[in-house]
Amino acid sequence: MKTIFEPFKIKMVEPLSILSTEDRKKVLQESYYNLFNIPAKFVTFDLLTDSGTSAMSSKQWAAMMEGDESYAGSESYIRFSNIIRDLTGMEHVIPTHQGRSAEALLCSALLKPQDRVLGNTQFDTTRANIESNGGVSIDLPSEESKDAHFEFPFKGNVNLKLLKEELSKNSKNIPFFIMTVTNNSIGGQPVSLENIKQTKKLLSEHNIPMFIDAARFAENAYFIKQREEGQKNRSVKNIAQEMFSYADGVLMSAKKDAFANIGGFLAVHNKDLAKEIRNRMVITEGFPTYGGLAGRDLEAIAVGLQEILSEDYLTYRIRSVEYFGKGLESAGFTLVKPFGGHAVYIDASSSLPHVPQKYYPAQSLSVAFYEEMGLRGVEVGSVMFGYLDEKTDQEVYAPKELVRLAMPRRVYTQSHIDYIIECAHEFKPKSDQLPGYKFIEQAKHLRHFTAKFAPIPKESFR
Ligand code: F0G
Repeated sequence: MKTIFEPFKIKMVEPLSILSTEDRKKVLQESYYNLFNIPAKFVTFDLLTDSGTSAMSSKQWAAMMEGDESYAGSESYIRFSNIIRDLTGMEHVIPTHQGRSAEALLCSALLKPQDRVLGNTQFDTTRANIESNGGVSIDLPSEESKDAHFEFPFKGNVNLKLLKEELSKNSKNIPFFIMTVTNNSIGGQPVSLENIKQTKKLLSEHNIPMFIDAARFAENAYFIKQREEGQKNRSVKNIAQEMFSYADGVLMSAKKDAFANIGGFLAVHNKDLAKEIRNRMVITEGFPTYGGLAGRDLEAIAVGLQEILSEDYLTYRIRSVEYFGKGLESAGFTLVKPFGGHAVYIDASSSLPHVPQKYYPAQSLSVAFYEEMGLRGVEVGSVMFGYLDEKTDQEVYAPKELVRLAMPRRVYTQSHIDYIIECAHEFKPKSDQLPGYKFIEQAKHLRHFTAKFAPIPKESFR
């Protein structure tokens, strides 16, 4: 069958706001061409992130009514921790209010100034937590990931050769390693079971613990089932359990593969580490059996973590992202390949060859998507990762100019995607007229969130 139908039916709906192109132009002007500044009510298709934007199921909503809001020892915590213990095999389960607070707790408990934290590729918040605790974050992405268009099944892998080299240099000041599945920063690409196993083996020789950032663990396990030799007859849950069996700890933003709108957790084998983290968390997160969440949030996460393992859901999820990617390709855009688990990434440099890097092609493309069809994606290029070097007063550019279109889980249907693809077909032939952008205001850190831009017409490119 070619049609991938959504393996759920809709019980509750939320109207989409549909503005005219003229109105959207006005919104863009008033927002200084920064999509983060646009009120959500003016966005028709919000593909800014897949984080916290999932539609919850009737079972999750029903479970929320069972939320036990006791300050200490809540029943909801017991249900939540049992589900996570079964999945990860970790004895000590610590709820946190989202992924980055789990990172902050781990880093504050284990990091000393100048320590190096290695990983396949740290997500921005992970890197920020490592650095704000005085550490240095070192990414060791696979060789295959360097070419955005090269088709390789496990581009999210760790580069084992580089890992060996890093460990042989000096393994003393490496308090832990983080394996992010799927690897968000390089395009939602999966890590193979074999790579997780080999990484663990190398780290064990130096007694370095491995943590898994499990934000999108089920998508990763599904890719393993589809792509890795000898895995196709196993259940996704069984594969996920094996992934976790190599880890010393798991940290997760439950806003992704737990279908929750908020929440996260840390789970560890080590009793002393758990104790240290619990002692710290009461200062910032709350009592260790609720970790900054309501009992009803713990319930929603516990149910979501079981639902995400549905193979009907995962088949639909991965195929619908692929369907979206192929549709955009057929319209003439160049995409990062293979398509990711939670998002497609458009290569703006080759899709808009007339816009030089200094006029931010990925910013131009993401603004145009909003203007054309009310679609909000996110620039993942020099606006986000470039910066103004204060010493030289020169702009430093990012290695790639991408636009990420992330898919909220169970939110948009195939007809939404068909409409976007149709608009993309119509809009591509005139995209060679798009303007570039310049900053008119920018903050020193994380400038993409608050920057103001002005368009530079094509005729003024120099
Ligand atoms: N780790 C990964 C791999 C992530 O993608 C994110 C968030 C986090 C940790 C942090 O979790 O937001 O709950 O604090 N990613 C979002 C995104 C924001 O859009 O990719 P959080």
